[in-house]
Parts: sequence; C-alpha cells; structure tokens
Amino acid sequence: MKKSLLLSLLCAAFLTLVAAQMICAADAPGDDLVIKAPEGMKTKEKDGKPAPLQKAVPFPHSKHASVDCAECHHTMEADGGAIKLCTSSGCHDSLEARSKENAKDIKLVENAFHDQCIECHKALKKDSKPTGPTACGKCHTK
Ligand code: HEC
Ligand code: HEC
Ligand code: HEC
Repeated sequence: MKKSLLLSLLCAAFLTLVAAQMICAADAPGDDLVIKAPEGMKTKEKDGKPAPLQKAVPFPHSKHASVDCAECHHTMEADGGAIKLCTSSGCHDSLEARSKENAKDIKLVENAFHDQCIECHKALKKDSKPTGPTACGKCHTK
C-alpha cells in the first residue's frame, strides 16, 4: 500500500515536470526537427504528371543558437512571443508549384524557406564564416 502511494506521488511529480516543459514555449525544439512540405503541396509537371516532392529538410536549432529567434520567427514579437508555423494560414501558405508567374511570391513555401535559409548561408560563405548548406541535396536529405 505504502509503496503504491509513493509510486503515484512520483508519477504525479513527473507529469507536472513534463507539463511545465510543454507550457514553456520559449524552448526551441530538439535537433530531430524535420521540415516537410505541407499537405497538398503541388509540384511542377514532368511528362504530364506532377513530379515527386523533394526530400524533407532536417533543421537543427542548436546549430543556429547564434541567430536571434525573431530573425527567423519574424512575427513572434508582433504575436506577443508566440511562434507560428511558417505555413500557418495567412503566412507562407500557397500550395502552388513554383512557376514563372509566382517565382518571386513570398507566399510560396519554397520561396520563403529558400530566401531565408539559402540567403543567410550564402552570405556567411561569402564572408568565410561557419555556415550551412547551399546545395539542394545537402538540405533535402530526408
Ligand atoms: C538551406 C537549405 C535548402 C537548400 C540548399 C535548398 N532547399 Fe529547397 N527547401 C528547403 C526547405 C526548408 C523547404 C520547405 C520544406 C519542403 O518543402 O521540403 C524547401 C522546399 C523546396 C521545394 C518545394 C516543396 C517540394 O518538396 O517540392 C522545392 C521544389 C525545392 N525546395 C527545391 C530545391 C532545389 C531544386 C534546390 C537546389 C537548387 C533546393 N531546394 C535547395 C530548404 C532548402
Ligand atoms: C535560423 C532560423 C531559426 C532560428 C534562429 C530559430 N528557429 Fe525555431 N524554427 C525554425 C524553423 C524553420 C522551424 C520550423 C517551422 C515550420 O515547420 O513551419 C522552427 C520551429 C520552431 C518551433 C516549433 C513550432 C511548432 O509549432 O511546431 C519552436 C517552438 C521554435 N522554432 C522556437 C525557437 C526558439 C525559441 C528560437 C530561439 C532560441 C528559435 N526557434 C530559433 C527556424 C529557426
Ligand atoms: C541568419 C543565418 C541563418 C539562417 C537564416 C539559417 N541558417 Fe542554417 N546555419 C547557419 C550557420 C551560421 C550555420 C553553421 C553553424 C556552425 O557550424 O556552427 C548553419 C548550419 C546549418 C546546417 C548544418 C548543420 C550541421 O550539422 O553542420 C543546416 C542543415 C542548416 N543550417 C539548415 C538551415 C535551414 C534548413 C534553414 C532555414 C529553415 C537555415 N539553416 C537558416 C546560419 C543560418
């Protein structure tokens, strides 16, 4: 009897800890985060059929600790610190394939990510600083 009481107390303490961590939204996710194309994303036609999606893109937050959260999560200040997914509705939420017409449209998932990720990596590379990948196959690996 005593033993099971202790066990349930321990259990309750553990659950409280887990809940506290979940509430703390200021924590960046672990390095197992993989950015996938949103559901329903269209691709360019190839031989009359839509081409397959690119492989998904792993994104390690810990390697980006030198960058301000708000530089990437650029709406968080306006949203009172809340972090939205980049593809939330009203944001970079176009599911159209990239074409001549929308090649500069920042609503496109592809354009939004490429502008942010590749531009920064390229600029750092130019300055011979530690940087991330700029080649398709080095980002689209999953
Ligand atoms: C710095 C990392 C990075 C590099 C380099 C990169 N991409 Fe992406 N790309 C992303 C991310 C992140 C997304 C959004 C997640 C997704 O859709 O897979 C994306 C999305 C896409 C999409 C739209 C969705 C899909 O899967 O079809 C296409 C097409 C694409 N990339 C093609 C390319 C091509 C071609 C290159 C090389 C010229 C390239 N990417 C280089 C990070 C990168
Ligand atoms: C270099 C860019 C970059 C930096 C810096 C960055 N993040 Fe992120 N973060 C991302 C990307 C990209 C995603 C994936 C967003 C998506 O899938 O739409 C993400 C996702 C997240 C998520 C998950 C959101 C969700 O609803 O699943 C949280 C929470 C988060 N980041 C917190 C942080 C915090 C806190 C910091 C600062 C300590 C930070 N990030 C710094 C790019 C960044
Ligand atoms: C403001 C600058 C900046 C932005 C934006 C940025 N990165 Fe990076 N990224 C870096 C730097 C700096 C490094 C190198 C860190 C190091 O080696 O210490 C890096 C490294 C990486 C690495 C290599 C990690 C490794 O294990 O070597 C990957 C993968 C990566 N970035 C993906 C992305 C993706 C995907 C995005 C967009 C969602 C992105 N980055 C946006 C600055 C940036």
